[in-house]
Amino acid sequence: MTEETNLETRIAEQDVFEPPASFVEQANVTDAGIYEEFEENWPDCWEGAADLLSWDEDYETVLDDSNPPFYEWFTGGTLNASYNCVDRHLPERADEVAIEWVGEPTDESNRSITYGELHREVNEFAAALRDLGVSEDDVVTMHMPMVAAHPVALLACARIGAPHSVVFAGFSAEALADRMNAADSEYLITADGYYRRGDPLDHLSKSREGVADVDHDVETVVVDRLGDDGHGHDLRADEHDYDDLMAAHEGATVEPVERDAEDMLFLMYTSGTTGKPKGVKHTTAGYLAWTAWTSQNVLDVKPEDTYFCSADIGWITGHSYIVYGPLALGTTTTMYEGAPDYPEQDRFWEIVDDLDVTQFYTAPTAIRSFMKWGAEYPERHDLSSLRLLGTVGEPINPKPWKWYYTHIGGEECPIVDTWWQTETGGHMVTTLPGVNDMKPGSAGPPLPGVDAQVVDGDGEEVPAGGAGYLTVQKPWPGMLRTLYNNDERFIEEYWAEYSDTESDDPEDWVYFPEDGAKVDEDGYITVVGRVDDVVNVSGHRLGTMEIESAVVSADHVAEAAVVGADHDVKGETIHAYVILESGVDDEEAVRKHIENAVEDKIGPIARPERIVFTPELPKTRSGKIMRRLLEEISDGEELGDTSTLRNPEIVRDIEAEVRGE
Ligand code: WT7
Repeated sequence: MTEETNLETRIAEQDVFEPPASFVEQANVTDAGIYEEFEENWPDCWEGAADLLSWDEDYETVLDDSNPPFYEWFTGGTLNASYNCVDRHLPERADEVAIEWVGEPTDESNRSITYGELHREVNEFAAALRDLGVSEDDVVTMHMPMVAAHPVALLACARIGAPHSVVFAGFSAEALADRMNAADSEYLITADGYYRRGDPLDHLSKSREGVADVDHDVETVVVDRLGDDGHGHDLRADEHDYDDLMAAHEGATVEPVERDAEDMLFLMYTSGTTGKPKGVKHTTAGYLAWTAWTSQNVLDVKPEDTYFCSADIGWITGHSYIVYGPLALGTTTTMYEGAPDYPEQDRFWEIVDDLDVTQFYTAPTAIRSFMKWGAEYPERHDLSSLRLLGTVGEPINPKPWKWYYTHIGGEECPIVDTWWQTETGGHMVTTLPGVNDMKPGSAGPPLPGVDAQVVDGDGEEVPAGGAGYLTVQKPWPGMLRTLYNNDERFIEEYWAEYSDTESDDPEDWVYFPEDGAKVDEDGYITVVGRVDDVVNVSGHRLGTMEIESAVVSADHVAEAAVVGADHDVKGETIHAYVILESGVDDEEAVRKHIENAVEDKIGPIARPERIVFTPELPKTRSGKIMRRLLEEISDGEELGDTSTLRNPEIVRDIEAEVRGE
């Protein structure tokens, strides 16, 4: 056996990995006593997180739990998020890089935006937004690709106290319009286009189509990303060129607005069980304290680092761990515009090498792609600047974990497998990299001060080795405060399952993230996946019900059921089982209709990878579609109980159809 296969075999057999000594030596947190300390001091243990921020007015109360589940944190305090992420770093770090922006075209140089420059741009854009009419508490929507103006826009909104609502640029016009209508948002920031795998893609047409469906007037700001490669859009009267606005406000300054701790910082729409996306509301102090504290203690961020998270700012990971957490700590955060395999499959490693990246944070789906592409790509580069690796978004199996550990981390970097959600604001379950052993496949223990428990159907904690549902038994500063304009649905979606909703005792309130989980003898939690109708395609959260209504809206579709099927690289992928209207037999045409409908209503990421036409769907006697059976067919699994079906024979027919292809 060669030395290399020896190494691979040893690692393949290893279940527990100690934090590398070279990492522990310099880690931000190394004392295991933190768990007990936080438990004993709860909720005052979170004062340390609040101390990471600069306050205009000190807070009076750490936690106000008088009206559960409407918890409030750091009440009485006032602060500004943009001041915390920019201004306060100026005395020490004005000439240090805040944002390393890497464009996709390789002949274009990076933009290294210093804190001084970021301060200037945020001020100018904040002044421009005010002149457009944006007032405190107006919701500003963004539908932006990964341009440098994106973080500037977030921080400019925060500066004037205007909550932002970011809609992932890959989402369709209709998805944009829905969210703008739901949030009564009269302002949109978008871009003419962006580069993807070398092509200059048009984006403005899609945003415009969305604006056309908004039921009130909208002022739009357009970032010119493509220049001469653009698609010849002439701006209209209600559209304003970003660069012109900046030039018109050159040198302008805007005093950061003093916001109450509990004032809304932003909204983010995410998918849930029912068709309508949920507007998750995050507030200023708790969210910022949470993202700063976890960036420091989980991602081990230090001001002198060059940190790189490969997410898109259109998702919560980008909000929390490209923008707010890292910038609150005054570090250098990296954002990359393009695809990981452009121009070649070593693009991320080239960035790590060029910028001497110290932490790299990505999703398991990306790691599975790296693995498929092969170790030769990282081997082309010097990755020795890396100190820590992270993963987020879905469960990671031991095999890709170990590949990441070996081929990217060179066995010198701890991996943090961070479980959290849009709703939690930041990390909840993960090892502390300088404290805990790592167990590939398991996220780890709940963070200090986080009371996550795996419970059974009755809400009783399962014993070590057991499986059940993940819950969080106590509030935490980064939690969502409600669903925008919908307190009732907030309770229904997240609390009703395991709480006594009549009670005003916080002990009776339990947060339910809708994930299934296992717990081992060391208290390590392995999150298995969603137990609701949410699927996770390449780390993107999509609601099967939303996709189903898009499929059903297509011409000639009578009925449909959409399920998430296992996928090697994406984690899950979409399969649609479809009944055609009677008399229709052009399956190819309907397939196209379905694909277009899904792209129009949601976006290309939700497009079904497989569409199976069937004369019937498996239904219970009461007429409910048994999606579980369809999922089993899609996954090639042994079929479960079909005895409660009204039409058990159809299952075999569908199975034969799927397997036969
Ligand atoms: C859902 C939340 C958190 C930012 C990105 C996704 C799944 C997330 C893990 C992990 C297993 C994970 C859960 C969760 N998830 N991280 N480390 N291990 N599953 O945010 O779109 O709100 O999705 O992602 O199912 O509920 P999101």
